[in-house]
Amino acid sequence: MDPVVVLGLCLSCLLFLSLWKQSSRKGKLPPGPTPLPIIGNILRLDVKDISKSLLNLSKVYGPVFTLYLGLEPTVVLHGYEAVKEALIDQGEEFSGRGSFPIIERTNNKRHGIVLSNGKRWKEMRRFSLMTLRNFGMGKRSIEDHVQQEASCLVEELRKTGASPCNPTFILGCAPCNVICSIIFQNRFDYTDQNFLNLLKLLNEAVSIMSSLWVQICNAFPALMEYFPGSHNKLSKNFTYTKSYLSEKIKEHQESLDINNPRDFIDCFLIKMEQDKHNLQSEFTTENLINAVFDLFSAGTETTSTTLRYGLLLLIKHPEVTAKIQEEIDRVIGRHRSPCMQDRSHMPYMDAVVHKIQRYIDLIPTNLPHAVTHDIKFRNYLIPKGTTILTSLTSVLHDEKEFPNPKVFDPGHFLDESGNFKKSDYFMAFSAGKRICVGESLARMELFLFLTTILQKFTLKSVVDPKDIDTTPVVNGFASVPPSYQLCFVPV
Ligand code: HEM
Repeated sequence: MDPVVVLGLCLSCLLFLSLWKQSSRKGKLPPGPTPLPIIGNILRLDVKDISKSLLNLSKVYGPVFTLYLGLEPTVVLHGYEAVKEALIDQGEEFSGRGSFPIIERTNNKRHGIVLSNGKRWKEMRRFSLMTLRNFGMGKRSIEDHVQQEASCLVEELRKTGASPCNPTFILGCAPCNVICSIIFQNRFDYTDQNFLNLLKLLNEAVSIMSSLWVQICNAFPALMEYFPGSHNKLSKNFTYTKSYLSEKIKEHQESLDINNPRDFIDCFLIKMEQDKHNLQSEFTTENLINAVFDLFSAGTETTSTTLRYGLLLLIKHPEVTAKIQEEIDRVIGRHRSPCMQDRSHMPYMDAVVHKIQRYIDLIPTNLPHAVTHDIKFRNYLIPKGTTILTSLTSVLHDEKEFPNPKVFDPGHFLDESGNFKKSDYFMAFSAGKRICVGESLARMELFLFLTTILQKFTLKSVVDPKDIDTTPVVNGFASVPPSYQLCFVPV
């Protein structure tokens, strides 16, 4: 048949399918803008600031609305009430992981923690949380790992000799080393080329995932098979990192002592050994590789970007930094290493860390969720498997809870007497059943790394603080700060 006729037939089928899918769902899903055939509502989103597009749409359609990103509907939840009602009050029903084609490309069977669903997800998540919590196992606690890494970080920052430096990779090494020491009992020198290469791949991955092209690929996965583009680079990065981690797993298999687990991989291998006659067991090599990859990738760039963005905000606001340093002098002094017990005596520092996370809004639209079965939500009927997008920006930048949300004011987390004040609107780690697995580790790292840096150094900006622009340069999947330089002057 003539290729033009074939193309015409294919396009007509797609158009028909798209119209049929959209009309067959009308009347059950929440309202939303009328989708165009095939491309749906994709043009309604400004990929440089998706949160702003969602805010504008919520003004027209309310806090619960439907968008067609391609052929499939996505239900968007906007504002604290809707997000809380779904993720917390109906937590079980909203605990599914939604479609994420760009990541599924290198994990199409959805192994590990981030992409998995159902029994697999429950078992992988429970095991990971338990192993992260119990880690140390009579030897060193997670806090010891973080404190040791904080000392290495200080040594590395001293080597800059108070000259201007871009802190991206130094601040990436510290959280990555903490994860490496938990997963495979190994930390790297900050100049190790293999290590820096892995960090570069992760750093690149976050920017690629926020690009316009990747958003288009997520909406139209078929494009990835026919067109070249950054999605191939992303898959290559992930495949390389997974093969590196697989090597580590092989080394562990060869030297495993089941009575003496050294790290996360050993604990998983022991479970595999115990379950070896259970054909339904989720403790398989595929799940191990992907769970380790999930912890490694989700646990590095997130914490590292928060530290980097945090220091940028601190050089922009020297009055805040001075108050933290006064608190450090009073509570810890100059010589003892900061520990987690100090946090309860340091409300100002605690408030600043929360403020940094609230202000930077690292993952503006969260990871996609899905409903685990057909559900009724606010009088709408949402079919099983529908992707749910929760706007974390709409919660973290709520104007009533945090007056002037765009202002960097630690006062949002302090009461009149200067005590730390919690807020239910603090959802930087999301909320409910899928809440970040690494939340407590990340909070520990942010507190100990930032406190240790400010105990040992004065931060000096290379430009007038007034001229520092803290607007993110990328604000898609993640919010990435502009590149900058600063000096770490020893105190
Ligand atoms: C500042 C640092 C961090 C932030 C802001 C952050 C934020 C998030 C967010 C928003 C999610 C999505 C939750 C959802 O689907 O509702 C998530 C999931 C996840 N995070 Fe983090 N994260 C951070 C650090 C870490 C660390 C250090 C680890 C590793 C130890 C980690 C491991 C994970 C994993 C495995 C998931 C998937 C959970 C699941 O699907 O059940 N994260 N994180």
